Amino acid sequence: MKGTAPAGATTEQEASQWVRSMFGRIAPRYDLANHVLSLNLDRWWRARTVKHVRYILERPAARVLDLCCGTGDLLLALQAKSAQPVMGSDFCHPMLTAAQGKILRRKRACPLIEADALRLPLPNGTLDLITVAFGFRNLADYQSGLAEIHRVLKPSGVAAILEFSQPGNTMFGKLYAFYSLKVLPRIGAALSGSREAYAYLPESIGKFPSADDLAARMRDAGFRTVEFVRMTGGTVALHLGTK
Ligand SMILES: C[S@@+](CC[C@H](N)C(=O)[O-])C[C@H]1O[C@@H](n2cnc3c(N)ncnc32)[C@H](O)[C@@H]1O
Repeated sequence: MKGTAPAGATTEQEASQWVRSMFGRIAPRYDLANHVLSLNLDRWWRARTVKHVRYILERPAARVLDLCCGTGDLLLALQAKSAQPVMGSDFCHPMLTAAQGKILRRKRACPLIEADALRLPLPNGTLDLITVAFGFRNLADYQSGLAEIHRVLKPSGVAAILEFSQPGNTMFGKLYAFYSLKVLPRIGAALSGSREAYAYLPESIGKFPSADDLAARMRDAGFRTVEFVRMTGGTVALHLGTK
């Protein structure tokens, strides 16, 4: 498979359906599990992402999409620094319902689009910035995902991909492997009620391209000035590329 490959899925369509229904089941507990399992670092990772793209958010009339927005945490963090409404998209209805609740509670006006990231209902060359936090790894075809992001960005538009990565074979890497393979699935299952979702998480991180590999894939998709920033000992990386 060209992207994520959950156990039992034999085609891209099956992989994509599995991902959508898995997120649908954990949507009500997703935020809690996220904050607990990351020791709240997820808020900091998103805040750093916003910092890197703030110069675009501050432009008048900037058009911004948070892809795979889930329950809307990055979307709302982007919106807090933007004068324009930031859009969010996701293909999982229960995640979007949770996002909509948060948007309303915070009295924001972020348009939400229910769509597959591989087939966005947006014209070519229309966006200044596309962000995606912890969603890209779940796509059934990474190169098609990059091509789709590239297609809807304006020339000089920026893609910002925040995703889990591998810290390498250091002492910290070994501790992290123990945490993610042995501890995280148990706590995640207890918090979310889904054993499979939190078995899939470390498995999909382990299979995801390294930071260097993802950068090379972005260049292959036509992005230039591709760079990445590692965070928290390399467990997370933010990739930035310009169309
Ligand atoms: C781990 S959650 C991340 C949510 C949010 N960005 C965050 O930072 O918390 C991944 C999200 O990606 C969405 N997703 C995965 N594959 C997708 C696809 N092909 N098209 C649209 N959304 C997708 C899932 O539905 C889920 O809401």
